[in-house]
Amino acid sequence: MRCFSFLFLLISCHVSADLSVEYRKYFDVGVALSSKDLASEESKKLAVNGFSSWTHEFAMKWSQVEVKPGQYNFEVVDEFVKLGVENNKKIIGHTLVWYKANPTWLAEEPNHRRNREYYLQKLRTHISTLVGRYKGKIYGWDVVNEAFTYDGNYRNNIWYREIGEDYIQKSFEFAHAADPNAKLFYNDFGLVNLEKQDAVFKAIKALKKKGVPIHGIGIQGHYSLSFPDLSKLDHAIKRFSLLDLDVMITELDISVLPHPGPEEKGEEENFDEAKMLQLNPYSVELPVDVEKKFDERYQNIFCVLLRNHKHVDRVTFWGLSDSRSWRNDWPIQDRVDYPLLFDRNMKKKAVFDKLVTLAKGFPRSCDSQIVSS
Ligand code: GLA
Repeated sequence: MRCFSFLFLLISCHVSADLSVEYRKYFDVGVALSSKDLASEESKKLAVNGFSSWTHEFAMKWSQVEVKPGQYNFEVVDEFVKLGVENNKKIIGHTLVWYKANPTWLAEEPNHRRNREYYLQKLRTHISTLVGRYKGKIYGWDVVNEAFTYDGNYRNNIWYREIGEDYIQKSFEFAHAADPNAKLFYNDFGLVNLEKQDAVFKAIKALKKKGVPIHGIGIQGHYSLSFPDLSKLDHAIKRFSLLDLDVMITELDISVLPHPGPEEKGEEENFDEAKMLQLNPYSVELPVDVEKKFDERYQNIFCVLLRNHKHVDRVTFWGLSDSRSWRNDWPIQDRVDYPLLFDRNMKKKAVFDKLVTLAKGFPRSCDSQIVSS
């Protein structure tokens, strides 16, 4: 009996450790971690054993590191980077310039100081402080995040308004000056959508032509059981690879919940019970047929990635376990979603082993997987 349990333990440990190992010859498999993950020995072990690249989900965002002008808080990041380096992980710095992570004090600066030079200086100081501090330790930085809108326009954020569209170029240049060996990425969602894809493609092509140090594109990958059409994902990967960029799926998760209509977002407090049940249907457990769809969806997505492995450099899951996923709170709050590889008890889901099997048997394992939906 003791021998049997030992054997079982050995097999399950082996399988948990297998994901990034099995995919190593195709691409890196990474994970985004929260401070809670790093505070728990159980999840830390999963992150150390199962993934070759780490991103911190929150701690490197500007609002987290520079709480007041010039007042930095590096404790969490220092710890994260130290642990990543000790465990030989490719650490991704996420993210230097993102309109949603601007510290609140930026908008409170006196009006007369707000001009292009002032904001360029702010950007330069922020980027060179952060990139410089971890020089040689961070493999790559998501330099600019979400600079375009869904319909392919420059997002009207503070940087665009105060500096102009070259804030993107400047950000990459500042990062490169602070650590010339770090890889530098542009990261965004909705890149399967042609209007947005065209705009980002055109902008990056122009930057590369000017010699701006940009090395990769992060396709975020917050998906669902029906979004995106996988032929569009396939197309996006192939298209961006034409620019001679590292192509990465940087924030992969698959929501199984219904997407609320625009009129339902932000209205949670007004939902009656029937509406909530409709929008949060699996609050007790995930039905077997939905779990099956979820597993197939991950496998189909991974077949697209495996088939494109010559272009894909990394696939990062946006979180370890369902309990800490942001998908529980987006686009509406307090739902129970199941988007990741580990469940609420940190137990490996069946899909984990299915992905391992897929890599082991590739290309034959993908013969029967659907490509286009
Ligand atoms: C974007 C950001 C991530 C994360 C997610 C959801 O995708 O790039 O850092 O904040 O939103 O929270």
